[in-house]
This record gives sequence, C-alpha cells and structure tokens, in this order.
Amino acid sequence: MKTFYITTAIDYVNGSPHLGHAYEKVLTDVIARFRRMMGEKVYFLTGTDEHGQKIQQSARAQGIEPQDYVDGIAPEFKAMCEKLEISNDDFIRTTETRHKKVVCALLLQLFDKGEIYKAEYEGYYSTRQEQFLQDKDRNEDGSWPEIYGEVTQITESNYFFKLAGYQEWLIEHIKTHPEFIIPRYRAKQVLEFLAEPLNDLCISRPKERLEWGIPLPFDPDFVTYVWFDALTNYYSAVADQPDMWPASFHVIGKDILVPPHAVYWPIILQACGLALPQSILAHGWWSINGAKMSKSTGNFVEPAQFVDQFGVDALRYFLIREMSVGQDSDFSMEQFLVRYNSELANNLGNLVNRTLNMTTRFADSIVPAPAELGEPEAILQAAWTKARDESIPLFEQFQFNVGLERAMSFITATNTYIQQREPWKLGKSEDPADQALLRTALATMAEALRLGSSLFLAVTPSSVAKIRGVLSYEAGPVWKDELVWDNRLTGNAVEKTCILFPRPEKKS
Ligand code: ME8
Ligand code: MG
Repeated sequence: MKTFYITTAIDYVNGSPHLGHAYEKVLTDVIARFRRMMGEKVYFLTGTDEHGQKIQQSARAQGIEPQDYVDGIAPEFKAMCEKLEISNDDFIRTTETRHKKVVCALLLQLFDKGEIYKAEYEGYYSTRQEQFLQDKDRNEDGSWPEIYGEVTQITESNYFFKLAGYQEWLIEHIKTHPEFIIPRYRAKQVLEFLAEPLNDLCISRPKERLEWGIPLPFDPDFVTYVWFDALTNYYSAVADQPDMWPASFHVIGKDILVPPHAVYWPIILQACGLALPQSILAHGWWSINGAKMSKSTGNFVEPAQFVDQFGVDALRYFLIREMSVGQDSDFSMEQFLVRYNSELANNLGNLVNRTLNMTTRFADSIVPAPAELGEPEAILQAAWTKARDESIPLFEQFQFNVGLERAMSFITATNTYIQQREPWKLGKSEDPADQALLRTALATMAEALRLGSSLFLAVTPSSVAKIRGVLSYEAGPVWKDELVWDNRLTGNAVEKTCILFPRPEKKS
C-alpha cells in the first residue's frame, strides 16, 4: 500500500504564527488522523519557508542576521504545532542542508537539460510580492493594485525557466484528472489562468538585490527565487525515502493555488521527470470579526493564547466545525462561544457528566448490562447507525463541518433519550421493572457516549482519549471496529466526574 503522504504549505516566518496558519495545520491534521483511522499508512509533513525578501527585511528591521532571525522564530512555529496537537511526522525548514542540497540538484538538472536560460529583463517589480509585473496587472486607472506594495522599474539579467512548452500538457492533465484540484470549482480558475500564454518563470534574483536565498549552483552571483525554493520542500523532505514520492495531498490556502502550486510546481516536477502529486486541496480564508486578518487585528485569536484559555480541542473543533472546506469563514468571539457552549459544553460535555454521575449514583460506578430494550433504545440505535453511515462519507469528502454536525446530532439524540427515560426517577424506585429499565438506560447512555465520541476522534483526539479514560475503555487498533453497538462497556468502572469543556463565564 502506498503511503498517504500529506503536506501543509510551509509558513513564512516574517511574523508570528496566526490563525490562518493554525487552521491549515489543524485541517491537514484532521485529514491525516482520519486516514490513519481508516487504516492507511500516513506520512505528514509541515514546516517553514525561511528565505526571500520578506524574511531579509524582517531580520534587517531587528538589526540581526537573517539566519539568527529565522533560528529565533522557527521554534515558535514548531511550538504552535505541538500546542495544536498536530501529528506531523516531520518538520522541514528551508534553511536546512538536506533541503538546500535537493534544490541545487533540481536546478542543476534543469540547467543541464537546457530548461533554464539567462536573459536580460526590463520591467516592473513588486518587492512585497517578490514578483515581476506586466501592464495587464495594473488597475484600470493605470495605478498598481495595493497588494503589490511599492512597484519599481528595473533592468537586470536573470535566469528563466521555460514554462511555455508545458502549457498544453498541464491543461490536459488538469482536465483529465478531476481529483487534481480540490474543490473542483477551483480548477476553473487554474484553467482560466492557463488560457493566456505562459511567460517563462524568472527563477533567480541578483545577489546585490537579495542576498538571503540559496545560491544558484551554476552562478553564485544569483540566489534562487523563493517560490522555486519553497515548493521543492515537499520533495526534498522525502528525497531519501524511495517510496514516498509522489505526494498524495498538498493542503494550501486559495491565495497560493494559482500560479505557484497549480502551475509552477507541476511543471517543475514534470521537467525534472518526477511524478505529480495526486491532489492539491485549496482551503478558504479566515477573517476576524469580518475584517481581513492583519498583524493588528489578529491578536484576539493568537492561537497559542487561545489554546491556553479554552483548550486545544475547543479551537480545533471550532475551526473544523465552522468552516466549509474551500469557502471563507469569519472568526468572532460570539460565534465561538455559541458553539463552545451549545455543542461542546452543554451537549457533549453534559452527556459525559450525566453518564458518569448517574452510573456512580445508581450503579456503584459500574456500567450495567442492559435489560430488555424498548422503543426509545431502538430509536437511538437507529440514530447511531444513521449518524455513523452519514458522517464517514462526509469526512471522506472533506465535508468535516457537516460530518461533525451529524455526529453532534447523535449526541443531542442521546441527551434527548436520557430526558425521556429519566434515570434519576428510576433510580429512586424499588420496583424491579424500574430497576431493569434503569440498567438499560445506564448501559445505553454509556454505549452511546462511547460510540458517538468516536466520531470526533480526528478532530478532538485528546477529549476522546479522556472520555475513553473515564469509561476505563481501551479502544482497539481498528477504528471502524469501534463503531459497532455491542455494549462492550458492561462491567467497566467509571470515574465520578470529568470536566471536558469548563464554562468560560464565571458563575455568580
Ligand atoms: O504563502 N486564512 O506562506 P504564508 C486561512 N510561504 N489561511 C491563511 C490565512 C488566512 N487568513 N493567511 C494565510 C506562504 N493562510 C508561502 C507558502 S508553500 C510551498 C509556501 C495560509 O505564511 C496561506 O494560504 O503567507 C498558506 O497556505 C499558509 O497559510 C502559509 O501562508
Ligand atoms: Mg501569505
């Protein structure tokens, strides 16, 4: 079985990690964990993009060397991954030797094949985007769009990579591989870009203008264009693992699909004789309180602080529950608290506590075997089968928000079941029929909790581990085997209480 090799974009380290970075890590982690749960062998890579103009400028602003600057900030990105309980197998930094060696090897290969040539370039250059511009990039009134920052006119020699020869091939590949770009509607945008003739890609920057990059192996007066350098990380990280390439899945934001990931990267690979990744998944963008994220507005959802305040699973759950993969979403404290309270604390958290509390009070903390099953049990079991059979295909299709909604509605159904059976009343009755019903109710709620919580495993792994812990339940190695209603908790001793999602507001 080929390893499912999945990657995130590698983050620019010109500032601290923000919510957008956190989301992409969590989304990729949920996909990686889900694939592992489904029995696949998974290899998960993330990392940092440490060369280029932006980084050089950030270092200069602090009056330090770029290498010292990146060595200081890269650990923040690693720490964020740990804080978010990201299950990555590797973390690559583009300043590592293992990476630079592979970038040079690919450049040399392309140069030797005649795919790279030197030419004089005269035109406009955006420092902010590190990109050459053309008149067609201007606004209608002739000015440059704000995203380019300051645009200067330059004349310089540079090295160019021949893209044009691959244009027809790439169009054909996209048209014949419907899984190459996810969501599918984004492929249209790529094909629109490819409808115009492709210009060759400038893959160098003269050292006098930019020093902070990988020197070209065939001309030390130039450094490598940061996108050529950065894209190569996906390959360089596994270059010494023979069976890993091609990557199965690149998860990226929609802003870097066209042209870097959907045009430059496949052409680089094809020109180097390397296979193409199976899929590129482009997710949408988070805004905060309706505003574009920026250094100044981003602070109330500084990911590490947020985790300290609400717990890692509250953030993971919200990010995955709120955003429909591919679309944009807004992060507001109001909406976060609504989901936190109504779904995590008052629904799932409440079910955990009711189960523990009533099992402790009415059954000496031991999950009883169920007696005869009635109609409410049959209804709940049917609700379980439905939730399970609907949510798994939704997860497979990256519709995690809807899958979680289905899982959560099974938790709601279980709480409704408890309201109906009223075990607290049955517990006070001496009647043997009521006692039998009580055993059935306690067994049913514990089993429903075990099953329902399993559907959250990829999204809130530590909360599920805690739930299993307080039920003294050790799950087996095959996730799908967990999803069968068979009362396997009978006889287990449960804890008295477990606060998974404490109320954020102070009670008076
Ligand atoms: O683009 N919402 O790095 P980066 C959601 N180094 N995702 C967001 C976001 C937001 N508000 N802001 C950023 C780079 N992202 C390059 C990538 S890959 C070979 C090189 C996402 O730090 C963004 O879309 O600007 C990208 O996928 C990732 O965070 C890193 O962005
Ligand atoms: Mg960016």
